[in-house]
Amino acid sequence: MRKYRKTEHIENFLRSTYVGDALFSDIFLYNDSIPEIDYNEIDTSVDFLNKKIKFPLMINAMTGGSSLSEEINKGLASVALEFDLPMAVGSQSIVLEDEDSRKSFEIVREIIKEGIVISNLSGFSNAEDAKKAVDLLNADAIQIHLNPAQELVQIEGERNFCGILKNIEEIVKKSEVPVIVKEVGFGMSKKTVKTLYDIGVRNVDVSGYGGSNFFEIENLRDPNTDFSDLFSWGIPTSLSIIEAKSLNLDDLYIISAGGVKNSMDIVKSLAIGASMTAISGEILAYIVRGGYDYTLRYIDGLIEKTKMLMVLNGAKNISELQKVDYKVTGKLKELLEG
Ligand code: FNR
Repeated sequence: MRKYRKTEHIENFLRSTYVGDALFSDIFLYNDSIPEIDYNEIDTSVDFLNKKIKFPLMINAMTGGSSLSEEINKGLASVALEFDLPMAVGSQSIVLEDEDSRKSFEIVREIIKEGIVISNLSGFSNAEDAKKAVDLLNADAIQIHLNPAQELVQIEGERNFCGILKNIEEIVKKSEVPVIVKEVGFGMSKKTVKTLYDIGVRNVDVSGYGGSNFFEIENLRDPNTDFSDLFSWGIPTSLSIIEAKSLNLDDLYIISAGGVKNSMDIVKSLAIGASMTAISGEILAYIVRGGYDYTLRYIDGLIEKTKMLMVLNGAKNISELQKVDYKVTGKLKELLEG
């Protein structure tokens, strides 16, 4: 059942048509006409999960568990290796019940030998499951995903969300690797982030509204029900980042995800408070529809354009980019002030 669901998620994502808005266009950055920067000396490297990486972008959790997933993970891991991008696998719950699905996950570590690989499980998992998931991949960290909206529209989904916070607290206490708590495209409120922080979570991936839409992806599996009136639900990614940052917690590491598709989204994410960015749906579409070489060109262009925008922001490195001035306009401003 789970195996088919994984394949359906990929196929339905590719069939989805709803376009949300992460509200990155409501963030305004200033052009610097005298940057005094040599483009060739721009430094995009950052520290992430105790390793130094070349660029603040990771391939976020998507798949594993079927032969189609294995092919996709192989392609994505090869792209990750080429650019030294960290990569998270999709939910490993399936491995805990089906040994045959191991290979579709293990392939990621086989390809990314030295780089960053991140495990993934849901908030319904316990510390023992988390250890198994990490051990399988010799993972550098584990993501725990929060997805009540997705579960509710999934025919066979969970309906009882009690106990998740306790599970996460236990995982954070017992895990030998850092824990990242993430959404799946509906965004995290300031309250959610603070609640997670208070139980010891120090890495959040807001995975906000504006990119992949799991109401639509799940709805495409069940043509008998119409959930289209729910498709606009969620906290836009840029709002989630600004609100999480406004908590002023120095040791909170914020990952921008949800509708991150291009260099402008990356630059704006870092300017408003994120330390890292992550991409799922867009790179999935590139690898499945365009293939490996086309995806390489996409990421290459994205890095080049990020460097151009850094020059134009007057930022020589990522920590300078995180300090540039910005203004908020439009709907994002209304949401922040309302
Ligand atoms: C996902 N996502 C996801 N997240 C997670 O934590 N575990 C998972 O197994 C999956 N599976 C999955 C499958 C597919 C096909 C997609 C498109 C996405 C969610 C993903 O990691 C991310 O949080 C959201 O997709 C938002 O980012 P994008 O897609 O807008 O860049």
